[in-house]
Amino acid sequence: MGYPPMLEEFRRRVEAALGSYLARCGGPPGLVEAMGYSLMAGGKRMRPVLLLAARAVFPPGGLDPLPAACAVEFIHTYSLIHDDLPALDDDDFRRGRPSSHKRFGEAMAVLAGDALLTQAFWLMGEEYRGSADPAATAVVAEMAWAAGSAGMVGGQVLDTVETGHAVGQGELERIHSMKTGALIRAAVRCGAILGHASSDDLAALTACAGRMGLAFQVADDVLDATATAEDLGKTPGKDEAQGKNTYVSLMGVERARAYAQELTREALARLDRFGPSADGIRILARLFVDRTS
Ligand code: IPE
Ligand code: IPE
Ligand code: MG
Ligand code: MG
Ligand code: MG
Repeated sequence: MGYPPMLEEFRRRVEAALGSYLARCGGPPGLVEAMGYSLMAGGKRMRPVLLLAARAVFPPGGLDPLPAACAVEFIHTYSLIHDDLPALDDDDFRRGRPSSHKRFGEAMAVLAGDALLTQAFWLMGEEYRGSADPAATAVVAEMAWAAGSAGMVGGQVLDTVETGHAVGQGELERIHSMKTGALIRAAVRCGAILGHASSDDLAALTACAGRMGLAFQVADDVLDATATAEDLGKTPGKDEAQGKNTYVSLMGVERARAYAQELTREALARLDRFGPSADGIRILARLFVDRTS
């Protein structure tokens, strides 16, 4: 993933902090190994980089956003481990290597996911402990809401129960906005909240993130149908084979590509009120749909 210099610097800071938080997670060596196997396998880190880009819209000061950025990547990584399990998408490859359950067995994959989810909240609680800034608890609530039953997990449930039954565009938007959009929206909102955004600025960024999150999953659907295993680090062509509801199954590759671009234009329009400090988000909005991996 080729980030421009400012975002690459964010990515490097995230990468280093993920390693040090992981090293501080106690537990049986086999569990910590399984957590690190998935976490440190070279994901694109788009959610934590986005959180830092959203924080950069506002003047410096206040709480360090890096713990929240790492928390969203811990949660995302757990969601990938569980998404690949035989009971869900039954995928054998992830981030360029055998998926967690292939390498460690199902029990350990379930538990490594559980531990990453839980340690995400440990690391924010630990780093923001005792802060008088209301953003400290607000980001924890945001992240929990986005990850939970009305967010990512809820979306995974709808994805699972609707597999094999064709749904319409409205329902598909709801599924994608929950399973993938929720964490992306939380990344933007947490960055803005840590920057003490006004309610109008927060509303504009939330609307932008909603379109970006949906666009991200539309692009993922297109890549599943068009990219190679080498580029993706995961097995392509699985969505059609499994009867998944995707934007490709709904409208075909070409229209899905065009829709992702349209969503991106809508997202960018919500940033008109911001100056160059929002350029990091602007670049990410384009990368979300122009990426090849
Ligand atoms: C894949 O996410 C799963 C989805 C929500 C579509 P990414 O494409 O961000 O995967 P990594 O983190 O780079 O491995
Ligand atoms: C994943 O959607 C959403 C998650 C919450 C992990 P997909 O099932 O399309 O993600 P990939 O294609 O396996 O990465
Ligand atoms: Mg899935
Ligand atoms: Mg999957
Ligand atoms: Mg997919």
